[in-house]
Amino acid sequence: MRTKFLRNYVFKPNQVGAVTPSSRYLCRMIVDGFDWKTAKYAVEYGPGTGAATPMIMQAVQPGAKFFAVERNPDFCQLLRKKFPSLDLAEDSAVNIVELCKQREIPHLDAVVSGLPWASFPESLQIEILDAMMDVLPPGGQFATFAYLQGLLLPAAKRFRKQLDRYFSKTEMSPTVWRNLPPAFVYRCVR
Ligand SMILES: C[S@@+](CC[C@H](N)C(=O)[O-])C[C@H]1O[C@@H](n2cnc3c(N)ncnc32)[C@H](O)[C@@H]1O
Repeated sequence: MRTKFLRNYVFKPNQVGAVTPSSRYLCRMIVDGFDWKTAKYAVEYGPGTGAATPMIMQAVQPGAKFFAVERNPDFCQLLRKKFPSLDLAEDSAVNIVELCKQREIPHLDAVVSGLPWASFPESLQIEILDAMMDVLPPGGQFATFAYLQGLLLPAAKRFRKQLDRYFSKTEMSPTVWRNLPPAFVYRCVR
């Protein structure tokens, strides 16, 4: 799995954005920040090889709807094998409105993101965030991780500014040192 991840990073560095999957400590940090008791509709952006996916599948309440959006065909193939019951869209997060419509999901309560925002050009950051705002109502929760070492990169700084523009509240978690590289989680409320 790590080899698949690394190979995909080598060929698509700006899409994959990491050399290895997130650790379970980072995944816990991101998943546990949501109010799963009230979340009826949830999505995971960029599950990759599925490091956080089983934790989300376990956290969603019976009757709630959860699906994942992954654009990399290699990762999708692996996810289908690992999680046969997962509703997986092999697509881009840019198309979230249509993907929700297809599933008769009226809005989202929780967006768990594994996307490599700091590798994205600003135009793509904005396109994905704009689309998300069409389905995430006020009070909706969003969380994503970022690498400590990347904080000084211009794209990471731009992304932080975008979060303040799009969300009414943004918090940073403590650093998760048991991740390669060390990372933290942005927890946002629309
Ligand atoms: C940094 S990896 C994270 C993978 C996994 N969440 C983890 O933490 O180990 C980023 C993932 O986002 C996916 N991705 C990149 N751009 C995407 C997009 N526009 N829509 C959906 N997935 C995307 C990549 O294919 C990759 O699987």
